[in-house]
Amino acid sequence: MNDTLPLAAELPFSLILFGASGNLAKLKLYPALAALAVAGRLPEHYAIVGYARTEMDDESFRTFVRESLESSGMTIDAKMMDAFLEHVHYQQGNYDARDGFDTLAKRLDELEKGWNNPVRMAYLSIPPTAFVDVIENLCESGVRRGEFRCIVEKPVGHDLTSFEAIRAALMRCFGGEKEVFLLDHYLGKEAVRNIYYLRYANPVLERLFKNTLIHHVEIAASETVGIEGRAGYFEAAGTLRDFIQNHMLLMASLLTMELREKEEGFRESRAAALAEFYLPAATSLNDIVLQGQYGAGMVNGETEVGYLKEDGVAEGSRTSTFIALKLRTRHPSFDGVPFYVRTGKRLKRRETRITIQFQEHFRVGAGGSPNRLEIILQGEAGMKFHLQTKVGGTEPLFRPLLIEDPLTVTGDVLSEHGLLLLEAMRGKQQWFLSFEEVHTAWSLVDPLQAHLDAPDTPLLHYPAGSEVPHEAVEWIAKDGVQWYP
Ligand code: BG6
Repeated sequence: MNDTLPLAAELPFSLILFGASGNLAKLKLYPALAALAVAGRLPEHYAIVGYARTEMDDESFRTFVRESLESSGMTIDAKMMDAFLEHVHYQQGNYDARDGFDTLAKRLDELEKGWNNPVRMAYLSIPPTAFVDVIENLCESGVRRGEFRCIVEKPVGHDLTSFEAIRAALMRCFGGEKEVFLLDHYLGKEAVRNIYYLRYANPVLERLFKNTLIHHVEIAASETVGIEGRAGYFEAAGTLRDFIQNHMLLMASLLTMELREKEEGFRESRAAALAEFYLPAATSLNDIVLQGQYGAGMVNGETEVGYLKEDGVAEGSRTSTFIALKLRTRHPSFDGVPFYVRTGKRLKRRETRITIQFQEHFRVGAGGSPNRLEIILQGEAGMKFHLQTKVGGTEPLFRPLLIEDPLTVTGDVLSEHGLLLLEAMRGKQQWFLSFEEVHTAWSLVDPLQAHLDAPDTPLLHYPAGSEVPHEAVEWIAKDGVQWYP
């Protein structure tokens, strides 16, 4: 497969960051950009221009970026820090008014004077409600010029309708998808990409990934964090939109998509896999989806408040922080295999894991358990194949036989945003979402969200620090299945 890692951004570029004073920029984007600079992977000429509503000048913005780098824990010496900050600029402006964008366009022209073929990039790390204004202003002002990339951070929209409005604005502005980079940071994680590459590089696994052999698949993402001060966003989103619509569905797609020898057709293949997923038939959507919200409790020895006591959360809010969901796929290899998906905040430990449980052709007997393959992406990462072997004696008794590897990522390791930014700079779209994927994901999720929003849909409450809420354990047990701890 033609997947040689991009070494560096080659062309000079300007990166305009919308939402420059936001959490994502502070926690992920500045450290990622600085790390690329330190590693010598940025060109000689580049400019990072923060654009936001807050009144600030270049100097105070540089102080803000400096502080974000210092608190990120990255190692950067004073000289490197100063050199990086020289590339950082700020432009105050509104998202919905043209004049700020006109000033921005002039500013960019000045900054880029003498550069050879600069690429311009806009990174939209803002609430989806501001996307359309920003896109229109980008295109109506002189900001969009020459080679351009518009990076849009997930979730793209709030539902199918708002996504379609954003898609239409992007199409009006850019005329197609070539300049549009829809970003889900899970696609920048080496471990997530490896779901695909483990299959690609190990044909033997593909032989095992068959509905005649698999009993069920579990995809679980447990987080210990709460909403991290993001009530403004999270209250309107909830876990189904925040995590399932994108990260979880992508993992399911990477596990089931057709392998491609080349990068060509890769996104189409991923989109086709996603389109095969559907909600299993059931008498009630309550059998398909379950929602929960964390209450007060202890996580890693710390006392944590319940969701309702988090700053900015509305009294009596029914926003869910835990979702369990059943899916099926029409994909020929997985047809008939149940997929159990769950994710939640403020759970006992942080772990992202795919478990493939195989069928038992015979009940193996004492000491035995069904074969299973675990791909642990986050937490104590690793791949584990659970087999069993006979213990000595006249009777067939068994003990576990575990084949495992820690899946340590070696080689050219970058942060997820660093890798994706570098790929966007080079125009590589393979690990960005296509319109089709986002459309399919919202189509799947919208009816579920409508169900969860209905006042009579149950909302379970779990104490912070739970392994899996017990209602979710009982819910899945009705199918004769257990969540793996
Ligand atoms: C983000 C969600 O997309 O992903 C957060 O908005 C979530 O709610 C985060 O915590 C998880 O990402 P990671 O990289 O920590 O697994």
